Amino acid sequence: MFEHLTDQPADKILALMGAYKADPRDDKIDLGVGVYKDAEGRTPIMRAVKAAEARLLERETTKSYTALAGDPAFSDAMIDLVLADTLPRDRIAAIATPGGTGAVRQAFELIGRTTPEATIWVSDPTWPNHLSILKHLDARTRSYRYFDPASRAVDMAGMMADLGEAQPGDVVLLHGCCHNPTGANPTAEQWDEIVATLKARQLVPMIDIAYQGFGDGLDADAAATRLIASSLDEVLIAASCSKNFGIYRERTGILMAIARDVPQARKAQDNLAYLNRQNYSFPPDHGARVVSTILTDPELRADWQAELEEVREGMLKLREQLAAELRQLSNSDRFDFLAEHRGMFSRLGASPEQVARLRDDHGIYMVGDSRMNIAGLNAKTVPVLARAIIAAGI
Ligand code: LMR
Repeated sequence: MFEHLTDQPADKILALMGAYKADPRDDKIDLGVGVYKDAEGRTPIMRAVKAAEARLLERETTKSYTALAGDPAFSDAMIDLVLADTLPRDRIAAIATPGGTGAVRQAFELIGRTTPEATIWVSDPTWPNHLSILKHLDARTRSYRYFDPASRAVDMAGMMADLGEAQPGDVVLLHGCCHNPTGANPTAEQWDEIVATLKARQLVPMIDIAYQGFGDGLDADAAATRLIASSLDEVLIAASCSKNFGIYRERTGILMAIARDVPQARKAQDNLAYLNRQNYSFPPDHGARVVSTILTDPELRADWQAELEEVREGMLKLREQLAAELRQLSNSDRFDFLAEHRGMFSRLGASPEQVARLRDDHGIYMVGDSRMNIAGLNAKTVPVLARAIIAAGI
């Protein structure tokens, strides 16, 4: 039967991981996959995660099944982290999922079950796997302009014009913070405008929030999500714990579905549990339990927040250092956007040929669309990158 299979295109981000590994150069720099790295290039296990795992090892008495929706304590803790007290808990259905990707996938499936005729609008550009999953599911999609290549900021006029063509009931996929791949995010005023358009055109927002705490802080990064959740009747939110808890391989995420009233939230809850059952039965529990242990213990939570702040501030410093180096080398302010962007990524705005030159001549790896993982840098490699960017004619 396998002779009927076709070859699958390699995932561009994951293929880059392999190419970097195979490069023998000692001074190579990996700015590819979105994984946080410290100044030594390590992806450490956070202190609070280690402590929570030790506690679980000691106190856990069973590995029996949880519930189809996952451990309720995890859902409650994550709803509180993302939404705080924005709206009553009984209007929110939630399931634990294998990572943020699992939540995205379940959200698309839920949309397919309830409004298969809806078009799902995605930013141009967006995380490539959004598009790949949508294609896999045969979903109806359109893109809206998002990134202005000249200013490297959000193309608000283009976005509003394109969403002006969306039909009532269409879904708009938004990045709650730290846009992947561009690093450009709407201002507070622009979010107000986006919310007004969503409301006026009766669109359903689906928010992917995978980097809460990596931009301006845990609450600031959730502000747009909370605004949307308090302004619209129905909202889908896919949240990831991979990055802000650093538990990538534990596959820990959550899908929240905000309904207009309690009976509809119950129906959504049933359908989400059903989807979990069809796709993988029970969601992974270990990472979820680590997260709820941390979030519900004041000491562990404070330590986690402190470490997350160090990570966030470290990335901001690298952004500022890189922008300053490039200001000096280019004798211009055309790279200042790097300090304005937020999160792990910035789209540099280089051509595919220039990206190839950075890789071939300097051993600097970034995604083909010139997305750079800022966390792949350190104070010593920033000047190296800055010189290479100028040498590559960017
Ligand atoms: C990324 O965008 O690099 C991350 O979200 C990792 C991934 O799975 O692509």
